[in-house]
Amino acid sequence: METKAGKPKYQQIKELLVDSIQSGKFSNGACLPPERELCDRFHASRVTVRKAIKELEDEGKVYRIQGKGTFLNQQSNKITQVLTRLTSFTEDMHSRGMTAGSRILLTEQVAASAEIAEQLALEPGDPVILFRRLRLADGEPMAIETSYLNDKLFHPMLEKYTGGSFYSFMRDELGIMPRRAVQSIEVAVIPEWEARLLGNPSLAVALCMCRQTFDSNDRPIEFVVSKYRSDKYRLHIELYNL
Ligand code: GLP
Repeated sequence: METKAGKPKYQQIKELLVDSIQSGKFSNGACLPPERELCDRFHASRVTVRKAIKELEDEGKVYRIQGKGTFLNQQSNKITQVLTRLTSFTEDMHSRGMTAGSRILLTEQVAASAEIAEQLALEPGDPVILFRRLRLADGEPMAIETSYLNDKLFHPMLEKYTGGSFYSFMRDELGIMPRRAVQSIEVAVIPEWEARLLGNPSLAVALCMCRQTFDSNDRPIEFVVSKYRSDKYRLHIELYNL
């Protein structure tokens, strides 16, 4: 349902809930009032209220405890990355109302090492494009991303890519669709120059995510090592006992 303000009702409820939580308007501390009360308060249906809460949950701003209620996540000042969908940095930032940016640090053709060749289904020594960017959210450094790309597929980017979402460039300019990815995460010690580049010289470790991305023909198209600021980022995963 669209409202006069042009935003869907659930979106408005989401924003009102965040405001109310942050300004301590709910009497029950960090616990959200029951669904029924929220429906009355916002003149909305249960479906709409549930949708707003579900999105807040997906973004890691609230969490639910069965039979007890929905609670404010006290660490919600960190950016929460939900690890269930293949999204780009730009999409992640947009979904939080932030502006994504990047500074290109390096774009060059190199010979694939044995490890990179394996990740991209190439032979060691085959040409690959090494592409490194500093990723920014509302102008603030968040991550250093180093991508390795098969030169045969991505060669035109050496001249054509000048900035913006790389996934959009892939799709719109090269007709390559990122379809699925395998990602591993570990805490990595970072050198001082990386901590400085990330805007926090005292940062000793980063959340290091290695992503191997496949296109719609299941060809590996990129291998990316992203080092996210551990003081700004946290990861959110939903688990099921099936
Ligand atoms: C995320 C992933 C990278 C991917 C990037 C694309 O940050 N960790 O593997 O290359 O998104 O983002 P964008 O399209 O904003 O350049």
